[in-house]
Amino acid sequence: MPENSDLHKLLIDAAERGVAYRESGIDRRVAPSPEAVAAAKGFVEPMPDKGTSAERVLATLDEIGSPATVMMTGPRYFGFVIGGSLPVTVATNWLSTAWDQNVGMHEVTPATSTLELVAMDWMIDIFGLPAGTAASFVTGATIANFTALAAARNRVYSDIGWNVEADGLIGAPPVTVVVSEETHPTVFKSLGLLGFGRNRVVRAPVDAQGRIDAERFPAIKGPTIVCTQAGNVNTGAFDPVGRICEIAKPKGAWVHVDGAFGLWAAASPDRAHLCSGFSAADSWATDAHKWLNVPYDSGVAFVRDALALKSAMAITAEYLMTETRFRNPSDFTPELSRRARGVDVWAALKSLGRQGVAAMIDRCCSHARRFAAGLREAGFEVLNDVVLNQVLVSFGDDASNRRIIDAIQKDGTCWCGVTVWQGKTAMRISVCNWSTTERDVDLSLDAIIRIARGQQP
Ligand SMILES: Cc1ncc(COP(=O)(O)O)c(C=O)c1O
Repeated sequence: MPENSDLHKLLIDAAERGVAYRESGIDRRVAPSPEAVAAAKGFVEPMPDKGTSAERVLATLDEIGSPATVMMTGPRYFGFVIGGSLPVTVATNWLSTAWDQNVGMHEVTPATSTLELVAMDWMIDIFGLPAGTAASFVTGATIANFTALAAARNRVYSDIGWNVEADGLIGAPPVTVVVSEETHPTVFKSLGLLGFGRNRVVRAPVDAQGRIDAERFPAIKGPTIVCTQAGNVNTGAFDPVGRICEIAKPKGAWVHVDGAFGLWAAASPDRAHLCSGFSAADSWATDAHKWLNVPYDSGVAFVRDALALKSAMAITAEYLMTETRFRNPSDFTPELSRRARGVDVWAALKSLGRQGVAAMIDRCCSHARRFAAGLREAGFEVLNDVVLNQVLVSFGDDASNRRIIDAIQKDGTCWCGVTVWQGKTAMRISVCNWSTTERDVDLSLDAIIRIARGQQP
């Protein structure tokens, strides 16, 4: 049986190890060494009969685990779309983990439920969403898309007199789902989970940057859900959501915006124009673990029609405090029990303030432009208009791109991923980390250009 004195020593040890890890990240290789990756096999063993002391468990985790991690929190990680967790959010995450609140019911989690409400209101303010919009703190944009589209399914069906929660989709009247050629795969997954089918969709054509071409938008007839996007995962481009709302809303369609990272452009006065007209939509999905730089896992769904969201998500049970004068968080989320992930969102927003969020977004965008300028100057082709934090670069043909990207990842100065953009293999640079500096961009550019030119370090 563990004792409280052990708790003190153990948590201090964990904090010290965490601090050492984060401090090492500034100059550490981004990719782990092959030896460290091989050593992770040290975790593999048959289920032990006897236990191990807590100190040894923690030490094993650190000694084997830490060196085998990719330094995703570091300033030169530009893969996928990955934030670096602001120090304040790591700290509040640790404290709220110590609280270990199950934030499903308000009455038994007054502190965390209140913090989540505050964080929700602040984000609604930052994004300029309509008053009365409801939010749902979920694991990421995948489940935020799912949650928002579940609310859409509820409303679109209730508008035609069908109770989809009670009666399901078998025998239900058809609903048209409009996506684009560039809709993120997680939206298709959500459509599958919701019974709409990943393939039973109408695809709107897009332009060269991956934006829906509003002039060629499909005609809307009957109950319809339209899925738009703020921030293409490759180019960073935005669908013309305001224009699509003008086309689709008078026909009664529900317009959803997947803004996993792009929605945060609304926080910057210099980039808010990218989100113009977004408040006319019905639902929005975003991530906090990407551009707000809070620890995993943290996404948020916003739904204008709070009742549609609640009808899709809420449950009742005698033993649960579902009949309450408070707003129960679990009435709005797929999960009943969950961690209070909204606390980290509150901490990020409280520590940065409106100006700090805008500065973080602007800084990342300016680093992306610096990357693009440096790569062009070195003679490489930048494939996208760099409107946000994403840069696509090609070093030549498919095989050279793959060889060079692999060498860049192995070199360890920085980490960038591979993609295929409109038939061309390319390297993706996504600048999302609060701590990236111009020096990090320049160090990374030097390494990328050196490797692409086939030079030795
Ligand atoms: C546009 C878009 N939607 C959804 C997602 C999925 O987000 P998550 O992995 O946080 O669930 C991503 C991830 O990059 C994205 O870029």
